[in-house]
Amino acid sequence: MPVISAPYAFNEGHLFVDLESICGQPLHLKCEGFNFAGSIKLKAANEMVESAERDGLLTPESILVESSSGNLGVALSMIAASKGYQFLCVTDSRCNLSTRLLMEALGSEVHVIADQDSNGGFLGTRIEYVRQLCASDDRYIWLSQYTNAGNWRAHYRTTAPEIAQQFPHLDVVFIGAGTTGTLMGCARWFRQWHRSVRIVAVDSVGSVAFGGEPGRRMIPGLGMSMRPPLLDESIVDEVIRVEEADTIRMCHRMARRGFLFGGSTGTVVSGATDWLARHDARGLSAVAIAPDMGERYLDTVYQTNWLQDLYGDHVLEDGGLDAVAEEVESATRTSERRRRS
Ligand SMILES: Cc1ncc(COP(=O)(O)O)c(C=O)c1O
Repeated sequence: MPVISAPYAFNEGHLFVDLESICGQPLHLKCEGFNFAGSIKLKAANEMVESAERDGLLTPESILVESSSGNLGVALSMIAASKGYQFLCVTDSRCNLSTRLLMEALGSEVHVIADQDSNGGFLGTRIEYVRQLCASDDRYIWLSQYTNAGNWRAHYRTTAPEIAQQFPHLDVVFIGAGTTGTLMGCARWFRQWHRSVRIVAVDSVGSVAFGGEPGRRMIPGLGMSMRPPLLDESIVDEVIRVEEADTIRMCHRMARRGFLFGGSTGTVVSGATDWLARHDARGLSAVAIAPDMGERYLDTVYQTNWLQDLYGDHVLEDGGLDAVAEEVESATRTSERRRRS
């Protein structure tokens, strides 16, 4: 029985969902949402705060400041509340309402940026805002998840070995890319493993993280409006891009089976399912990472009006949901056929 006295001391690292009966492909999903911050970002937040403490950067007067689309902000709010630091999160209008309320409930200040940068995203504006804050008062300490090595090191130390322990014959891993902390930490660890593992990065259409045209992106977490400073493309085997409409469909498909995951999980699972369908997946050992759960997205990904306004009526018409149900049934039939053969 785990007994803890600090909220960041618990993190379920060994829970996987077998998705074969839902997506018709041999795919296991590593769930990173089972901790008190509700997301994979707890790992990066812990690592970055502990390393700043070791380096003597944090004093009782310090005010932590970070640019975050939400999940890192919640994790830092929780750690700051527990350790007695102040925290200011700079986010943007894409941040879910519930995520913002969570940060405030934990005692943090939240500043919401509404001006887009030249790539149509908010990152450039958010970072400039943080820079100005730090220049105005030296109590502000910016951990900078975009450049902090603690971000990828957290996954090198934990996420990748947790996968390897459960899947000793792993062939391919699908990892969503935001700051690329998760991607870089896992890729570096698997490059040193005894077995060759194909590292597939999953990005959203409209992100310029790996190049390409900037475009509208409404689902927070995945994708960047600039090249991620942590990214080393030489250790990534392949990049796949997923349309947000496919993300939404996959989220609803999993929800129809009782698994309510966050938006970026829909992106990663949709990309992974397509990839596996295009390759001979029989006998492959494949894992994807689910960064968070779905409750934070009830007013976006799982809300009818939001979906209709952004993606058109067809996404939610009866035909649309019936189609999702049909896909689920067909995936179940495929996976049963596979099991029998
Ligand atoms: C929901 C969600 N998915 C994916 C990511 C991307 O993770 P990373 O920043 O490690 O690339 C994040 C990061 O904030 C996230 O919050």
